[in-house]
Amino acid sequence: MIVTSKNLKETEQCADTFIRVLKSHEKQATIVALYGDLGSGKTTFTQYVAKKLGVTDTVTSPTFVIEKMYKLSHPLFSQLIHIDAYRLESSTELLNLNWQEIISDPKNLIMLEWPERVADILPDNMQKIYFTFTDETTREIKL
Ligand SMILES: Nc1ncnc2c1ncn2[C@@H]1O[C@H](COP(=O)(O)OP(=O)(O)OP(=O)(O)O)[C@@H](O)[C@H]1O
Ligand SMILES: [Mg+2]
Repeated sequence: MIVTSKNLKETEQCADTFIRVLKSHEKQATIVALYGDLGSGKTTFTQYVAKKLGVTDTVTSPTFVIEKMYKLSHPLFSQLIHIDAYRLESSTELLNLNWQEIISDPKNLIMLEWPERVADILPDNMQKIYFTFTDETTREIKL
């Protein structure tokens, strides 16, 4: 599905649609890889996902801290983990952030920005979303 979002409201609606169809796995975490250039809307989309899942804390970009975790009271997921791999030198750094443990918990929903940086340790069955900057207010979101 390709969505042309003309403003933040439409990106929020797209996040809503995404959550509605979101399913968890039986034995592992749900990993959502967010592809797209700087400013294409990966963090913005994740902020709306967090809002819809009931996160009341402000969701800021994890660029400088790499990883942020938010507790959820949701039937499928108990934790939202927002990761920005942009500044990682190698996937080993992600492994050092307890990656194996995090991905083995089916109650975890992982939203991962810049998955290209850690491609070698990502499972094949992860979900992928592609963001493209069209103009100042327009983004294409391919789910
Ligand atoms: N239709 C739209 N959908 C999403 N964001 C939009 C839209 N129009 C404008 N924007 C703006 O684009 C910016 C997207 O920035 P965001 O931090 O989400 O990008 P990003 O993909 O996470 O970048 P980075 O790779 O640097 O982390 C925000 O400032 C947001 O307000
Ligand atoms: Mg971002």
